Amino acid sequence: MSLSSLLLLLSLLSFLLPFLAQSGPSPLNDDVLGLIVFKADVSDPFSHLSSWNEDSDHPCNWLGVGCDPKSNRVTHLTLSNLSLSGKLSRGLLLLQYLKTLDLSRNNLTGSVPPDLLRLKNLENLDLSENGLSGSLPSSFFEQCRLVRSVSLASNGLTGSIPGNVGNCLSLASLNLSHNQFSEALPGSIWNLVGLRSLDLSYNALFGDIPPGMNTSVNLRMLNLRNNQLTGQLPGEIGALVLLKSLDVSNNLLNGTLPDSIGSLAACQYLGLSSNLFIGVVPIWIGGMRSLESLDLSWNKLSGEIPSSINNLHYLREVRLSRNSFTGGVPAWVFESGVERVSISDNMLSGSIQLAGKSSSGLHFLDLSGNSLSGWVPPDISYLKNLQFLNFSHNSLSGDIPATIGDLKLLETLDLSSNNLNHTIPSDICELASLKVLNLEKNSFYGEIPTQIGKCISLTSLDLSENNFSGRIPLSISSLRNLQRLDLSRNKITGELPKQFSSLPQLTYFNVSHNKLTGQVPSGTFFDSLPQSSLSDNEGLCGAVLNISCPAVMPKPIVLNPNSSSSNNPLTQPNVNPTTALHHKKIILSISTLVAIGGAAIIAVGILTITVLNFRVRSNESQPATALDLSDGYLSQSPRSDANSGKLVRIGGGDLEFSAAGHALLNKDCELGRGGFGTVYKTVLRDGQPVAIKKLTVSSLVKSKDDFEREVRLFGKVKHRNLVGLKGYYWTSSLQLLIYDYIPGGNLYKHLHESSASDSLSWLERFDIILGVAKGLAHLHRHGIVHYNIKSTNVLLDGSGEPKLADYGLAKLLPMLDRYVLCSKIQSALGYMAPEFACKTVKITEKCDIFGYGVLVLEMLTGRHPVEYLEDDVVVLCDIVRVCLEEGRVEELIDQRLGGDFPLEEAMPIVKLGLVCTSQVPSNRPDMSEVVKILEVIRSPQGSPVEELLV
Ligand SMILES: *[C@@H]1O[C@H](CO)[C@@H](O)[C@H](O)[C@H]1NC(C)=O
Ligand SMILES: *[C@@H]1O[C@H](CO)[C@@H](O)[C@H](O)[C@H]1NC(C)=O
Ligand SMILES: *[C@@H]1O[C@H](CO)[C@@H](O)[C@H](O)[C@H]1NC(C)=O
Ligand SMILES: *[C@@H]1O[C@H](CO)[C@@H](O)[C@H](O)[C@H]1NC(C)=O
Ligand SMILES: *[C@@H]1O[C@H](CO)[C@@H](O)[C@H](O)[C@H]1NC(C)=O
Repeated sequence: MSLSSLLLLLSLLSFLLPFLAQSGPSPLNDDVLGLIVFKADVSDPFSHLSSWNEDSDHPCNWLGVGCDPKSNRVTHLTLSNLSLSGKLSRGLLLLQYLKTLDLSRNNLTGSVPPDLLRLKNLENLDLSENGLSGSLPSSFFEQCRLVRSVSLASNGLTGSIPGNVGNCLSLASLNLSHNQFSEALPGSIWNLVGLRSLDLSYNALFGDIPPGMNTSVNLRMLNLRNNQLTGQLPGEIGALVLLKSLDVSNNLLNGTLPDSIGSLAACQYLGLSSNLFIGVVPIWIGGMRSLESLDLSWNKLSGEIPSSINNLHYLREVRLSRNSFTGGVPAWVFESGVERVSISDNMLSGSIQLAGKSSSGLHFLDLSGNSLSGWVPPDISYLKNLQFLNFSHNSLSGDIPATIGDLKLLETLDLSSNNLNHTIPSDICELASLKVLNLEKNSFYGEIPTQIGKCISLTSLDLSENNFSGRIPLSISSLRNLQRLDLSRNKITGELPKQFSSLPQLTYFNVSHNKLTGQVPSGTFFDSLPQSSLSDNEGLCGAVLNISCPAVMPKPIVLNPNSSSSNNPLTQPNVNPTTALHHKKIILSISTLVAIGGAAIIAVGILTITVLNFRVRSNESQPATALDLSDGYLSQSPRSDANSGKLVRIGGGDLEFSAAGHALLNKDCELGRGGFGTVYKTVLRDGQPVAIKKLTVSSLVKSKDDFEREVRLFGKVKHRNLVGLKGYYWTSSLQLLIYDYIPGGNLYKHLHESSASDSLSWLERFDIILGVAKGLAHLHRHGIVHYNIKSTNVLLDGSGEPKLADYGLAKLLPMLDRYVLCSKIQSALGYMAPEFACKTVKITEKCDIFGYGVLVLEMLTGRHPVEYLEDDVVVLCDIVRVCLEEGRVEELIDQRLGGDFPLEEAMPIVKLGLVCTSQVPSNRPDMSEVVKILEVIRSPQGSPVEELLV
């Protein structure tokens, strides 16, 4: 017989089946037929039933089919979780020997066949977790015969539970949970004396619990949770002495709790929550010796919590929240073996007292929402296993005991909405496990400890509505798991660390109602913030807030060396300002704005410079032309030809080159190349060596008159820290500048190309820093901007005295164009003030101060102003800022010094360097101020180092 013809027959058969089923057993193939009809009626998307082959007379081998070994009749059909859909086939009614039918966890739909339980051998029926609907036919339970367990749980069944359920006297387990059964619970259900487990939870049953409960004495499990049952819990319940679990939560039961509950000596779980129970919890609760879990939450219970609970040795979990319990926190909370206690939202009062040695089993304690007063007990640290601690919404006062750090497993600490004050203990972050720290709505003050960065597991940090001051610790930005950060409504100052922008998980961020200043760092995260997260910070500006930032900030630096600032944002907390700031010692304070902002601007600057440099490099192809000095060009020429060159000695006198000097200005005597030209060494006739700079920017050089005027000015500004200009030479096609020859090489070589053994000592470095400052200050006094501060432009003479070279050359250009500057000041990467990148900002001596700041940091750290790593560009000032923030200045200082430097000098110089590299030009000090500061910093030896360890 082919499959198609069989199927045709089968569809006919299924029509006739109700009649066939009653016409007595047809021994051989009823089972095969029944199963094939079943298969034909369901859809089997994953072909689990492919082994069900109509050619076989032996269905016992088919998937999910089990047979009696003697009779070979089908006794078990277990097809759970196979994604079968369709209706429940009447073919099943042919399986007359079936004992167990399990079709749970499929997608079967339609109604439950009314005569399913008539299968005369059926013992277990499980149709749970399908999509069956409609009401149960009233005949369903009519003939139960041997049926022991029925589960129709988790379907969409409606209507009432048929009253004849009481006929199924063989039933031991009935599970109708998670349907939409409504109407009253039939009283006949208690007739089921053999019933051990009754689960009617999550339905819509209403009315009172019918009387007669005491008949069903075998009940071990009774679950009526989540219905709308009303009236009282019958006192008869006490007769169910075998009951292990009783759950009537989430109903509308009222009245007092029957005393008889106390006789449920086997009961392990008692769930009475979310009802309308009133009255007290009587002492009898102590009689429920087996109790492990007690849930009386969300009722209207009152009075004191009975201490007899202490007798319950197996008790692990107690939920008493949302009642009206009064009195103190019962002692058993800390003394018995309970692991989870929740008594939140009651009316408990008094203080929290641990009896000294306490149960270490407690790992969850919620006492929030009471009227508790007094302190957070320091001996809370005895509760070693505590993971969750919530004392919020009480009237606790005082501070957070430092012992809290001993709770090594604590994950949640909620002390919000109390009257706590003082600062947060800095070792709160010994709690590396801490995930949630909620301290909002208290009166905490002081700074947020930087050590908060040690709480690496934190996902939520709420410090809002306190009196915290100081700055936002940068260390918060290392909390990679942080999702929620609320610092709103405090007195926090300083800038928003841009690093927050890169916290990967952060979804909630609020710093509104503080005293923050500066520009909101641009970056994806901050850009997407609602204004309300930043509002009411008068000093905060940026696109997100629709407030444009003033181009020039008011100067927030304290740079008067003689003032002893006590308001120093860079000092760490807990340092007594009077000891920290010895008079005459200065600690430069820089605003957070200066300290943190603007790496983005720097990055942009570098990009521009790099691009321009690249372009220039590729264009600049002219080789160093050999210049013959003997052809008369460079001899002091009396020629009157207007076009011929004139070698002029500054200050008068002769400039005569020696015979040797008549050699070529060629590669052999080349000293170096810069953005403005090539430098050659030669010797004057009197034996004096000189350096000659041949300008390579001839096309850009000004007219002869302008050139002479500028150069003469350079010649006048003599200073021991400037390379002296001896003379110049001008024709329209060739310009030379003649300088003193400085034998010691440039600073770059000394810093970056020397070994540890002959690297500059601290003293030498300080001298150079000071010397350069003096030279630069001298230039500025004469109105000359250097434009090209970098370590290759600082030369050292034989005695180590620094001398600035190449000053003012930019002034020789016809137009002070920033592009020209950028292209000419090659290799000045990292020294360029950010305003070079900005069309509108005027280039002033403040640019030099930026470059000087970078130079200072370069001297201290021995590192390049910009370092190119594999896929990163590291900007020196930024690293230094971060290290300073994190108090790691010592690590910064050049390793080659081997720690041989006075920190009380190094620290303020680092800060000085940072001030000089402020993004905002007006925030940078004047060079004369810098000199003064340096002279003050140079303190006599032997002063206590600690004083400046700030
Ligand atoms: C049901 O079957 C799916 C896939 O066959 C499986 O992943 C899942 O664990 C099963 N569920 C149960 C409760 O057995
Ligand atoms: C079962 O039914 C549910 C709800 O209708 C549906 O989401 C799911 O995809 C179905 N599963 C299968 C295997 O058909
Ligand atoms: C009743 O069935 C539901 C759904 O399958 C299940 O979660 C629950 O544990 C069952 N109840 C009992 C007492 O076994
Ligand atoms: C309990 O609720 C029923 C109605 O559901 C009401 O008739 C009865 O008065 C209530 N009893 C108490 C003690 O509130
Ligand atoms: C901190 O709270 C305690 C206890 O309420 C109080 O005595 C003390 O004055 C408070 N301290 C401050 C600075 O507010």
